[in-house]
Amino acid sequence: MNLTLKIWRQKNANDKGKMTDYKISDVSPDMSFLEMLDVLNNELINNGEEPVAFDHDCREGICGSCSLYINGRPHGPDRYITTCQLHMRSFEDGDTITIEPFRATAFPVIKDLIVDRSSFDRVQHAGGFISVNTSGNTIDANAIPVNKHNADDAFSAATCIGCGACVAACKNASAMLFVGAKVSQFALLPQGQIEATDRVLNMVKQMDEEGFGNCTNTGACEVECPKGISLENIARMNREYLVATAKR
Ligand code: SF4
Ligand code: FES
Repeated sequence: MNLTLKIWRQKNANDKGKMTDYKISDVSPDMSFLEMLDVLNNELINNGEEPVAFDHDCREGICGSCSLYINGRPHGPDRYITTCQLHMRSFEDGDTITIEPFRATAFPVIKDLIVDRSSFDRVQHAGGFISVNTSGNTIDANAIPVNKHNADDAFSAATCIGCGACVAACKNASAMLFVGAKVSQFALLPQGQIEATDRVLNMVKQMDEEGFGNCTNTGACEVECPKGISLENIARMNREYLVATAKR
């Protein structure tokens, strides 16, 4: 396959940045999208040019770091996969592919296609955990009965990999799907009840402080989420928030 790539190049956080065109040839349809970028970077390095900076780690859909906006969609054209799981057979020979970083005030660009998503870490630190007494009387988690439906829903919520595609897809750059998933995975389990009030209040407060927008029920986040996280998690977070506010 021969392709034209239009890639966002930005030297650092203060640089204005611009789209730059690259031609790439002999791309195998069986290459992953990131492998295709590896080939481009090899060529750039061999020509004495600066390689394109992009984020990646596991390359198997687990870590959530491969945050690319491809032809106007986070993680590209295919559903339920991350950029690292996207293959070049999803494109046609001769295509022009536009590659940008995830864009949101709370995700400032560090360089080229890499954004700073530490805002997500701070939201997690605000309440995305449970405290367990490990002084010697710890109850085995498997000994605590959990309703099967709640266990399934908690597990589904816990599959969120924190990639940020929901934010990038949202016209308001809202993080409600991410935070909804993180609140839900504990709200549905007995282990999450002790800190439930503080958790939802603190995580929503941090989300707002980071500059994420509000949810206006567009649903783009659910469509673009590689893990199929449901909008039900936003509704559950809103209910949790209402109950927590009434308790305070
Ligand atoms: S909710 Fe989906 S899109 Fe958003 S961070 Fe989690 S996995 Fe990524
Ligand atoms: S590199 Fe880990 S999910 Fe893509």
